[in-house]
Amino acid sequence: MKKILTLLFLVLGIATFAQTPIYLNSNAPVEDRVEDALQRMTLAEKVAIIHAQSKFSSPGVPRLGIPENWMSDGPHGIRAEVLWDEWYGANWTNDSCIAFPALTALAATWNPELAELYGKSIGEEARYRNKNVLLGPGVNIYRTPLNGRNFEYMGEDPFLASAMVVPYVRGVQSNNVAACVKHFALNNQEKYRDHINVTVSERALHEIYLPAFKAAVQQGKAWAIMGSYNRYKQQHCCHNQYLLNDILKNEWNFDGVVISDWGGVHDTKEAISNGLDMEFGTWTSGLNFGQSNVYDSYFLAQPYLNLLKNKETNEDILNDKVRRVLRLIFRTNMSPDLNYGSFGSPEHAAAGRKIAEEGIVLLQNNNGLLPVDIEKTKKILVVGENAIKAMTVGGGSSSLKAKYEISPLSGIRFRAGNKAEVKYVAGYESPATKEQDVKDAKEPPQKKIDVIALRNEAVAAAKDADIVLFIGGLNKNTGQDCEGDDRNSLELPYEQDALIADLIEANPKTVIIIISGNAVAMPWVKQAPAIIEAWYNGTEAGNALASVLFGDVNPSGKLPFTFPVRLQDNGAHALGDYPGDGENETYKDDIFVGYRWLDKENIQPLFPFGHGLSYTTFHYGKATADKNKMTADEHITVSVSVKNTGTIAGAEVVQLYINDKKSALPRPVKELKGFQKIFLQAGEERLIKFTIDKNALSYYDDSKSAWIAEHGEFEAWIGSSSADIKAKINFELY
Ligand code: BGC
Repeated sequence: MKKILTLLFLVLGIATFAQTPIYLNSNAPVEDRVEDALQRMTLAEKVAIIHAQSKFSSPGVPRLGIPENWMSDGPHGIRAEVLWDEWYGANWTNDSCIAFPALTALAATWNPELAELYGKSIGEEARYRNKNVLLGPGVNIYRTPLNGRNFEYMGEDPFLASAMVVPYVRGVQSNNVAACVKHFALNNQEKYRDHINVTVSERALHEIYLPAFKAAVQQGKAWAIMGSYNRYKQQHCCHNQYLLNDILKNEWNFDGVVISDWGGVHDTKEAISNGLDMEFGTWTSGLNFGQSNVYDSYFLAQPYLNLLKNKETNEDILNDKVRRVLRLIFRTNMSPDLNYGSFGSPEHAAAGRKIAEEGIVLLQNNNGLLPVDIEKTKKILVVGENAIKAMTVGGGSSSLKAKYEISPLSGIRFRAGNKAEVKYVAGYESPATKEQDVKDAKEPPQKKIDVIALRNEAVAAAKDADIVLFIGGLNKNTGQDCEGDDRNSLELPYEQDALIADLIEANPKTVIIIISGNAVAMPWVKQAPAIIEAWYNGTEAGNALASVLFGDVNPSGKLPFTFPVRLQDNGAHALGDYPGDGENETYKDDIFVGYRWLDKENIQPLFPFGHGLSYTTFHYGKATADKNKMTADEHITVSVSVKNTGTIAGAEVVQLYINDKKSALPRPVKELKGFQKIFLQAGEERLIKFTIDKNALSYYDDSKSAWIAEHGEFEAWIGSSSADIKAKINFELY
């Protein structure tokens, strides 16, 4: 009897197993699951899964038990829940996240391991909140300091952005959450972003604007990418034949989903044929009122279904989109090794703090004013609105509801404890603005700000302090570091320059701390003994800043973009093509973006790309190479020894730039092609090695549509910033 029963169970078990559809069998290969699910779906189900059903979700296939897709901004934390059809917050009480530092701060760490930690941590937060697509990271190149969204990106250099985006993507996706790399491509300003048509050379496209996206796709294996709002070759980038089909899908073999930016789709036929896979955020009438049929009016909804039914378009194209969406679902929500993630944890806060501490850049430190010696400092005066202003709120779609945010003032007070008195005066004030995360919010009533009275109060207090910590910069209000528009000028807003000058005059021991995601002008730079760029650092911002100010952490951040003296020192502005005429913009600066422009024009920056000081000092030895000639199939190893010559441990970012002595096409004086962040104890010395292959020597030749490594002489320049080259060595490609 027992034997018969066992046999029966076995047969039943096999029968049940045999009946399990392949798409539900988590051990089956993803592609088999995709094909199986696809052939079970009706036409209507196929069309349904390629467009939104709410502000941030798209349907699955309920009949087949295939779950919905849920997206979340991105890229600095998991956004609070919004109402089904609205941008308005849903007022949940369980969705307060850890806010991580802005991506500029991450890029300033020059530490790919921290990019992986960032990705892993934010991915865990997304997973816990049941989001399977994180709308980030952003890797649009920093072309002008006026771009309101630079804080969400990774700086001006394609090599640095590539090196940092790959581990971020891998970290996120290790949680079975897709990274959606944005905004592809040429979305380098907010002004006119919805329609501006960008004209750029093939060469600049390939050398400057595409590499970080390519690295994210090919090395990071990103599962999603977001098309941008702007146009290129007169087509919107969310349905752009050249960018999405020719380059992304055909040349780079991208097998993930192309997701539209919210409201970035404008035409059904183009959306069908030009590479878009999923449509979100389209503004159809009635959307704000939550009518049930609005999503059916999306370009890739009923209008698409009609074309299919009338045989005006071919189902193969639809099947390709559906396969991609199914692949996304099997890689994420229906993956066999799904974990539960974690949310708002101390570990995530600590990860954010570590990233913040390593990203803060010590720009200037004359007479050793920093770090603050707490034993000898009794009266600390903190001045400036940014010492108390919440910076995780505002800025547009990256705005967060943080579990907590330590302000700079709180961080300084915690650290000073009862050793020093910490007094605060505002010094300046920004006008109240509408809530930035609510797209339809109204302007609040304005009150009169007495600029002079605020300044006088701060200057009087400064005279009496042992040290003054001015904490200002930009903020997340419209016209500052904020989505939807650009800044008007390079200058600090709210008359901060006059305040800073007066503070330094009143008390020469004044430290200027800039919180921003962009370069700012510093007319007082020669008078300021110490200057720090502290970025938007999220939940642990104040603690991280205090650690650097008081020397618990030795600063090691380096600028991911140039600080020009004047706007005219930037190529896009010098040539007058920014912001375009409202319809068109030609990137006349071509490949000469950031330091490439300043080098070409021989302009001194305010602070160069790659610059950042430490509380210790480093000595670079002579560069040596294992050979002085190579063929295109070989590589050369260049070595340099770096020694910590100070008395405390510290980290240095050793940077490798390549200089091409002579070439058929004009080339930048130098280009970043390698970097290593090394931690050295006091007195410790280490030999750093860089491997140089033909990729580091190549440029993109438009006429041949190919990367060319030209024979001839090159130089490897090794330095501690783009303007502080410590060692050079010659070699030849033959
Ligand atoms: C932004 C995207 C964002 C999306 C959803 C758009 O306005 O450009 O970066 O992911 O909104 O909030």
